[in-house]
Amino acid sequence: MVTTRAPEDAYTAEPFVPSRAGLPSLRRAAADCRGCPLHRDATRTVFGEGTADARVMLVGEQPGDQEDRQGKPFVGPAGKLLDRALAEAGIDPADAYVTNAVKHFKFTRAEPRKRRIHKAPTLREMAACGPWLAAEVAVVKPELIVLLGASAGKALLGSSFRVGEMRGAVLEREVHGRQERLVATVHPSSVLRARDDADREAAYEGLVADLKVAARALA
Ligand code: URA
Ligand code: SF4
Repeated sequence: MVTTRAPEDAYTAEPFVPSRAGLPSLRRAAADCRGCPLHRDATRTVFGEGTADARVMLVGEQPGDQEDRQGKPFVGPAGKLLDRALAEAGIDPADAYVTNAVKHFKFTRAEPRKRRIHKAPTLREMAACGPWLAAEVAVVKPELIVLLGASAGKALLGSSFRVGEMRGAVLEREVHGRQERLVATVHPSSVLRARDDADREAAYEGLVADLKVAARALA
């Protein structure tokens, strides 16, 4: 078999994304995406979860270890924390479509056979995977997009996005030719990484406060 490798700048999911497809077809096609090198080491594509009539779309960074094993977004520790914060903010999970900027788990191992350690995706990988996220937004047409952390923000609003400057307010921006309302907040993993209990509590309360802004925007 002859394998050809695309030049790095040509990384893109584009040729794998069926046009005018619904969520089931998109999900099936995404399972075979080879748009960038991240599919090689990951177990599977982790596509978004939720229905096409979801009112709010939550966008994370990329699947983690548990998501890679189970094939669903936000089912690991960050997902548990997110569920708790959503409940506290009054956002019904049934109203939410949950996805990530990048659909394959990127990781390093300190040593062979050791635990897999999350590695942040590059802007190039986020750009490569962007056509999947764009297709999800086009099908779901959410009333509001919640950006969970800097990667989600950069993926949809550009590389100059900063969570600290943008969080906790309803933003109105054109994204892929559609006028969107968005609320940015921190990534739930950043709450888990806090130095001590006091920092963790403050970070969690900040996340909940931002999600309450999203809940009010949906009311
Ligand atoms: N972190 C993310 O950004 N997404 C997941 O699905 C899980 C952890
Ligand atoms: Fe395709 Fe995205 Fe996976 Fe890269 S990360 S192979 S673009 S689905």
